[in-house]
Amino acid sequence: MSFKKDLISGLSKKKKMIPSKYHYDYQGSKYFEKITQQKEYYPTRKEKEILKKISKKLPEMIKGNLSFCEIGSGSTDKIKILMNKNVKFYFPIDISGKFIRNASKKLKLKYPKLKIKPVVADYNKPFKIKNFRNTTKVFFFLGSSIGNFHPGHDVKFLKNLSKCIDRNSFIFIGVDLIKKSSLINKAYNDKAGYTAKFSLNLINIINKNFNCGLNINNFSYIGIYNKKMRSLQGFLVSKSKQKFKIGSKNFKLKKNEKIQVEVSNKFSPKSFTSLANKANLKTHSFWTDKSNYFGVFLLKR
Ligand SMILES: C[S@@+](CC[C@H](N)C(=O)[O-])C[C@H]1O[C@@H](n2cnc3c(N)ncnc32)[C@H](O)[C@@H]1O
Repeated sequence: MSFKKDLISGLSKKKKMIPSKYHYDYQGSKYFEKITQQKEYYPTRKEKEILKKISKKLPEMIKGNLSFCEIGSGSTDKIKILMNKNVKFYFPIDISGKFIRNASKKLKLKYPKLKIKPVVADYNKPFKIKNFRNTTKVFFFLGSSIGNFHPGHDVKFLKNLSKCIDRNSFIFIGVDLIKKSSLINKAYNDKAGYTAKFSLNLINIINKNFNCGLNINNFSYIGIYNKKMRSLQGFLVSKSKQKFKIGSKNFKLKKNEKIQVEVSNKFSPKSFTSLANKANLKTHSFWTDKSNYFGVFLLKR
């Protein structure tokens, strides 16, 4: 679906929503990078702690020439922790074109021998990567991106991914674990306000694409953890009554009406394993950090 169709369909729902992938223009990716540097945002810090542990074991665990393929790679910051001399190819896949091309150029300076081939694509659609050239495929889906799907779409994504691999391939997935609600709420409502800036940037993106004259100051942001649903939901809240148009379609917002713009589902090791099993993937190994906040799963077919 196109941005326009997705927007019209999401904003026509009783509970208005916009898919979170539209946050990521260049500025959105920059804001996300800032979020990951905030003290309250434990996922990045905890996942890096785990990746450092895995990195020590990786050359022993997966031998021979490797192709690393990172889905939703963003800044490529985490893959640096895992690089070793067996890695011959790196395929970062991301929707944020300029951002991953820049990140890939910087990575090339650090690893001049590594063949880096950025792929600008939407990972919700089936994707194919060519030229693995007799290397073992190692996929990464980090940053708790597996939690960003609406119900049912996570299994679909894993099934598509499972089609890209063979029995010798590996998939590492970073998963945010269930924990105290207050810790999650703090992480998604950082004091410096970068999560708010990241979400409000969507208004700029919509204005740029559809010239609808929305005023960013007429919106606020809030992230709320729904304990029952095990899901953090991020909303843009309309501060007043508003009217706007997407193409020829009219929309109204009431005062305090919310538009859901973010979903971040949390898992237990058991619930994630059962999700992976539905996509015919098996848990080969599981690592967590010292506080059990985050988990990295190694899946195989
Ligand atoms: C939550 S961030 C994680 C970034 C990085 N992997 C990390 O761990 O910090 C999600 C990343 O996936 C990308 N992304 C989001 N939705 C996407 C989609 N549908 N297709 C491709 N990339 C997407 C974003 O541009 C962003 O870089």
